[in-house]
Amino acid sequence: MKLLVTGGAGFIGSNFIRHWLSGHPQDQVRNLDRLTYAGNRASLSDVEGRDRYQFLHGDICDAPTVAQAMEGCEMVVHCAAETHVDRSITDPAAFLRTNMEGTGRLLAEARRHGVRRFVHVSTDEVYGPAPEGVAFREEDPLTPTSPYAASKAGADLLAQAHFRTYGLPVIVARPTNNFGPFQFPEKLIPLFITNAMADEPLPVYGDGLQRRNWLFVEDTCRALELLLQHGEPGGIYNVGSDSECSNRDITQAILRALGKPQSLIQSVADRPGHDRRYAVDCRRIQALGWEPKVAFDDAMPLTVRWYQANRPWWQPLKDRLREDSYHWLHRSAGPPMVQAAGRPQG
Ligand SMILES: NC(=O)c1ccc[n+]([C@@H]2O[C@H](COP(=O)([O-])OP(=O)(O)OC[C@H]3O[C@@H](n4cnc5c(N)ncnc54)[C@H](O)[C@@H]3O)[C@@H](O)[C@H]2O)c1
Repeated sequence: MKLLVTGGAGFIGSNFIRHWLSGHPQDQVRNLDRLTYAGNRASLSDVEGRDRYQFLHGDICDAPTVAQAMEGCEMVVHCAAETHVDRSITDPAAFLRTNMEGTGRLLAEARRHGVRRFVHVSTDEVYGPAPEGVAFREEDPLTPTSPYAASKAGADLLAQAHFRTYGLPVIVARPTNNFGPFQFPEKLIPLFITNAMADEPLPVYGDGLQRRNWLFVEDTCRALELLLQHGEPGGIYNVGSDSECSNRDITQAILRALGKPQSLIQSVADRPGHDRRYAVDCRRIQALGWEPKVAFDDAMPLTVRWYQANRPWWQPLKDRLREDSYHWLHRSAGPPMVQAAGRPQG
């Protein structure tokens, strides 16, 4: 079987490709990635050169590229996206283009090629903020807050429309916040780990009490694998864990794991429209036999150790971020929206 993964040079995509190649020794994987600032071929340096892996550099919005990528592929896992909420606040257009137009292009080509399964990787952020005591079910309405979440909600609905209108066997996965190896160091956890390692401040938004459900990336990879094999066409599946923590809890866990002082915590003005809480009900995917295997308290030290051992992977990315106008280190010198853009996603 030949599988197309989009955005496979990113965080979840690269972990998923490694996971699939090791568990499916007969299969071939083609990775279509535009290599934006968030894409990095070094994340798959261990599989580059294998017969069963092929990298295709290109844009999911470009029709001939997508047609070429889809050629001979029976299944698709669509991870490619613009993913940083803060960047979506300053530049929504890039999010509409890749997340909506690009998803539409892929779905159309998947239909033309008669793919057997199309797993669309959406997000729990499409539901918007969850009131206290509520965990969203898959049927709940989508009320996204940020331009990122709105563009993902558009893509999610487009994917569903392709099942309803054309019978394309689409499966929608809505994972919660992920963390683990190979996550780009502008996102909350790798940003705080690498800052703390350098004794630099950890910029916590507002009161730091925004709560999210955190999932180790390996568990997400197993969920995507299961959905590809056993998800019901047209089905929507929340993918999350029980570990709901605040951004402050995350910050404390990182400081503890690295033995660094509380004085590194720096409160910064909150992100505009920052959702206070996300929560999803995962009984549907649990009924297929999935549950997270790596507890948060084990996954966090594992992740910290990975960043300690893999500085050559993240240091060049961090150096590039420092030169980037988005860069959070200099947020105090920028106008309000540029400042907002420099802060970590939570
Ligand atoms: N990381 C999370 O916590 C999380 C949680 C829920 C859902 N998701 C979703 O999972 C998917 C993967 O997220 P991630 O964290 O790995 O993202 P990422 O930002 O690490 O990687 C995105 C990848 O997509 C590629 N890409 C961007 N635009 C492209 C285009 N036009 N054409 C081709 N490739 C393009 C980038 O080069 C990059 O390799 C996304 O759809 C995201 O919305 C992520």
